[in-house]
Amino acid sequence: MEQEIQRIRENFFQEIQQVQSAKDVEAVRVKYLGRKGPVQQLFKQLGTLNPEDRPRVGKLLNTLRQELETAVKEKQQQFKTREKRERIDLSLPGRKPPVGRKHPLTQTLDEIKAIFTAMGFTVADGPEVETDYYNFEALNIPKNHPSRNMQDTLYITEDILLRTHTSPVQIRTMQSQQPPVRIIAPGRVYRRDTPDASHSPFFHQVEGLCVDHGISFADLKAVISEFARKMFGTDIKVRFRPSFFPFTEPSLEYDFNCVFCRGKGCKVCKYTGWMEISGAGMVDPNVFKAVGYDPETITGYAFGMGVDRIAMLKFGIDDIRLFFENDMRFLTQF
Ligand code: PHE
Repeated sequence: MEQEIQRIRENFFQEIQQVQSAKDVEAVRVKYLGRKGPVQQLFKQLGTLNPEDRPRVGKLLNTLRQELETAVKEKQQQFKTREKRERIDLSLPGRKPPVGRKHPLTQTLDEIKAIFTAMGFTVADGPEVETDYYNFEALNIPKNHPSRNMQDTLYITEDILLRTHTSPVQIRTMQSQQPPVRIIAPGRVYRRDTPDASHSPFFHQVEGLCVDHGISFADLKAVISEFARKMFGTDIKVRFRPSFFPFTEPSLEYDFNCVFCRGKGCKVCKYTGWMEISGAGMVDPNVFKAVGYDPETITGYAFGMGVDRIAMLKFGIDDIRLFFENDMRFLTQF
């Protein structure tokens, strides 16, 4: 009987070593410790032994049963914790989907729109694929006029092109309505520039146009100055310099105090204290004629504005190409 006990022990441990699942453990348990298993059988046979052998063998049997039970429990525990780990815990909080945000250019444009709509401007729109007529001809830039060299144009056909500025929206708006006109026209424009830190073959402008009886240069200066203060702060001054555009007369270019040094002079503004923004002027009588307005009774001003440039100043960005590379490391900073 003592040999039998040892044999059962060896067989049991060999089998329990190889179990693959909680089910296997249970099968081994039933096989060895169940009512019809060998351990119970031996307990039944105890009575057939000599009375003097009974206590010793009984003790051995009890030890065997305890060893087996402990081994079974340990295995069961192992599988329980493993299964728990593998189960999906539905009480865990879910993974947050990344929340998108507005592109820095869109943020800047939203701000520009808010400032001008507060001053009574509405937002107008026009096509990016334009005709020669709207982009040049109606804006007093006739064919073979040297000013067409000012802008390197991307032509689709001889007559159809990608607009080089938002000024054609001036023409489209005035053709479709009578004065008073007070619009801004934001949008993408295209030029044949080789990309570098300050050039991109496409960029964004906001056109401004205000036409009515008695509109003067003073109105233009006031609106541009108010924009500068609202956009960059009340201490920012505006400077107007004489210039030339075929569709405005007189024409000017305007600068804002450098937003980094606030006019004192620094590396960014090359120690001038000023940053060039864009051009503007009083609408040329020939433009009014092209849209059928009477230049004798109607006056107006127009201005341009570079959105990318303003965004670069606003956020302190030194390379325009960063806006268009879709690099999340850049975009998520704003
Ligand atoms: N369209 C001009 C440009 O792109 C800017 C401008 C707009 C100038 C309106 C005067 C009036 O450079």
